[in-house]
Amino acid sequence: MQRWKHTIAYEIYPSSFQDSNGDGIGDLNGITSRLDYLKSLNVGAIWLTPVYASPMVDNGYDVSNFYEINPLYGTMADMDNLIAQAHKRGIKIVMDLVFNHMSDQCEWFKESKSSRHNPKSDWFIWKDGVAGEPGTRPAPPNNWRGIFGGSVWEWNEERQQYYMHTFATQQPDLNWENPDVRQALFDIANFWIKKGVGGFRIDAIPYIKKPNGFESGIPDASDGLVSVHTMTVNTPGVLDFLQEFKKNVTQGKDVFTVAEANGVGPDDLKYWVGENGAFDMLFEFGHLHDVEIWCKPSPYGIMDFKKALLASQEATAKNGWYPAFFENHDKPRCVNNYFSERVAADPKLRVLAAKAMATLLLTLRGTPFLYEGQEIGMTNVQWNDLEKYDEINTKAQYKMALQEGFSHEQAMAFVNRFSRDNSRTPMQWNADANAGFTTGKPWLSVNDNYVEINVAAQESDPNSVLNFYRRLIALRSSNANLDGGPFTALLPEHEQMMAYRRGDGIVVLVNLGETEVEYDGRLVENRKLLIGNYEGPFESSGVTRVLRPLEAVIYGM
Ligand code: NOJ
Ligand code: CA
Repeated sequence: MQRWKHTIAYEIYPSSFQDSNGDGIGDLNGITSRLDYLKSLNVGAIWLTPVYASPMVDNGYDVSNFYEINPLYGTMADMDNLIAQAHKRGIKIVMDLVFNHMSDQCEWFKESKSSRHNPKSDWFIWKDGVAGEPGTRPAPPNNWRGIFGGSVWEWNEERQQYYMHTFATQQPDLNWENPDVRQALFDIANFWIKKGVGGFRIDAIPYIKKPNGFESGIPDASDGLVSVHTMTVNTPGVLDFLQEFKKNVTQGKDVFTVAEANGVGPDDLKYWVGENGAFDMLFEFGHLHDVEIWCKPSPYGIMDFKKALLASQEATAKNGWYPAFFENHDKPRCVNNYFSERVAADPKLRVLAAKAMATLLLTLRGTPFLYEGQEIGMTNVQWNDLEKYDEINTKAQYKMALQEGFSHEQAMAFVNRFSRDNSRTPMQWNADANAGFTTGKPWLSVNDNYVEINVAAQESDPNSVLNFYRRLIALRSSNANLDGGPFTALLPEHEQMMAYRRGDGIVVLVNLGETEVEYDGRLVENRKLLIGNYEGPFESSGVTRVLRPLEAVIYGM
């Protein structure tokens, strides 16, 4: 039995979850101390973002050694203890495999850059530049822009060549064309399987294959560059690498895989997941309002969100399995991301919105992935000072906004809206100093609203977001229709309401808009209201019924 299909997964961003030693940085022992809390949410798998040795330029996504634990987070003994303590509670640990790139501080890269003739010389992607005037440095090989801004090419004096980095300069891309590189990566994954981890989240995987020729593309901004995403995502041949990964790492073992796959859409899913695909599940980006250049956000509305979710449900009904998620450590908080500013600013509406998203998360067909703090409805921050932000893309995007002609105030508005630090502020455990996250100085400021939004306050409030999640989780695990039943879209063209059936028993209706909507009572005929996000006894009845703003209801037999 594929247990992961029936589990609740929970993502932990270790720096921000729980500090155990007062240094202001969350750590492994902190996570272990909170396992009972996770158990109370019926969590069966914890996805840990990278905890390996790292200089932390991209907060652990720049790995210098996959066989060591970052001392900021603890020791290998702490990691073994976390795995063991989690197992005792029926919880699997899911490790993050960052296999598109490494840190420039890893031994492999140090060796690779030392000369053009060392055994690891082609473990990374090296290219000659384009020669210009004699005596000047050659120009970069092409015009690709990295995800964090600037050229993907960085000049190296020792080799007199450029190396490629899809993300930060300090994150050189590995050369997957070299079989030794692939074997070294498979060995790493197998090392962690031997340690007893239950699965992998696989980072940035659609970028590992680069197109032959490395041709320049048509510029998409005033810097004359074109997004590396456009140029390299899902390049033909990527699936051969991934099938090899499956054969050498996961096939026949009790581990599940969920790959981060921005740029792989529902139509491609059949090649990526399921029996013949490389992975069990894929984090798609279609429904996220994903914006690569923050100062150029595309218009986005309820219909975009809804269409993306419905397309994924349709695709995963045929192949593979779906990981439902609305938040992670790269995205704004969902009450900010999917609703107007008015909703996040109004305590009542904010709670309704958090519960509406909870209803979707726990009733779509797939494995729900919660992100730390989502279960209490944590929100974005609103910092006016760029210095308060830590993460590398925020700084890059601010710079890009100024380059594109926006003012400081406008650039800060983009930062407030999209910064990845919105979801990385420390977990809000209680109303004590630093929200109970640390006794020291937190590495990233706590969101000021922790006095109001925190776990302790919500534990004792039956109507809290947290207890709403618990009720939904209990309903889901006791209801075969919700747990595994087929998904049937209802009212696919409705512009405000998500409506669907699970199996033949459950009907879910969610009003994602801020105004009332009417619906035909026959949709829920012969069923009773099981859960709703509004308090109080009021329930619409009759032929023409009403869903109030942001109202979410689940009807069942
Ligand atoms: C996706 C990760 O989620 C993100 O945090 C990271 O910066 C990039 N991949 C690069 O590893
Ligand atoms: Ca610590």
